[in-house]
Amino acid sequence: ERSTRRRHSPSALPPPISFAFDIDGVLIRGEEPIPAARKALSILDGDNEWGMKIPYILLTNGGGVGEEERCRRLSKQLGVQIPVDRYIQAHTIIRSIASKYADHPVLVLGGRNDVLRKVAENYGFKHVYNSLDVLAWNPSVWPFHDLTPEEKASIKGADFSKLKIAGIFVFHDPRNWALDVQVMCDVILSGGTIGAGHATSSSPVDVVFCNPDLIWRSDFPVPRFGQGAFRDAFQAVYKSMTGMTCNYTQYGKPTEATYTFAEAALKDLLLARHESRQPSVYMVGDNPESDIAGANAAGWKSILVHTGVYDPRQGQPKHVPNHQAKDVAEAVQWALGQEM
Ligand code: G3P
Ligand code: MG
Repeated sequence: ERSTRRRHSPSALPPPISFAFDIDGVLIRGEEPIPAARKALSILDGDNEWGMKIPYILLTNGGGVGEEERCRRLSKQLGVQIPVDRYIQAHTIIRSIASKYADHPVLVLGGRNDVLRKVAENYGFKHVYNSLDVLAWNPSVWPFHDLTPEEKASIKGADFSKLKIAGIFVFHDPRNWALDVQVMCDVILSGGTIGAGHATSSSPVDVVFCNPDLIWRSDFPVPRFGQGAFRDAFQAVYKSMTGMTCNYTQYGKPTEATYTFAEAALKDLLLARHESRQPSVYMVGDNPESDIAGANAAGWKSILVHTGVYDPRQGQPKHVPNHQAKDVAEAVQWALGQEM
């Protein structure tokens, strides 16, 4: 089939293309950058035949700190400046619903100590508590963990017998699954007031998870459990307690909400660049269940790299990408070749 693509001349604009990069298993593993990442990002930052920048965003199920802080860390790790308007993490989308809970106490789980309390307050929540605050209020809530001095210093004092928690938001991976499963069940089964026995009100507590990943790559030789594994552990205990599955809202890749949110961010980026052409979006990811599944469902092009969760020796991935590449640099070069 004769290529219908316009033959480009070196002086022409780059093709209408933009990228969404997953982070863990594509750009970094644990704290270390993947060697091909710097090359891939430098191509998009202008080291290409047009000498022009090509738009991209980072779209991760990671999180645990504020967006600005993560971009600062990533810029240092990757040796490339990552502006915060290019960065979407698991719980960034929660900013869009925080105002609904502004006047109500909420529980925010995951991350270290009270780092995510400040992130949640920055999103618009005004009464943010975590499971360490609950343990500090009454150590009998979970008698198998003594607060460390660092945890004690992060506590926000409250009498939870007098609070009605309206929502539980699992922003990032809980550090103490046992404590967090216990506190989640206490809040949900009491209708929001810990220790009040069974539900004292008809309005159920909202439960929101931000990352469905069962596993992620990190820098261990085999993948590690992600927030999706915590959710499944919580659901197993909840079902043993109640015989039912707890209703919840799921954000994060591959959910439609997260990809729609990411597409809007890409559109804003293109508008700011006065790019009027409708670009093809290429998602580069390492996890077929989140990166490839979500991109395919969103109508984006998808490229699966072999530097993270997916191992080609496992056979064909459950969610089939448009292309497979050994790493992110090869993925970028293939995509550009497709659009010329
Ligand atoms: O906790 C992060 C992990 O679940 C996946 O991160 O960057 O591969 O979406 P990422
Ligand atoms: Mg990944």
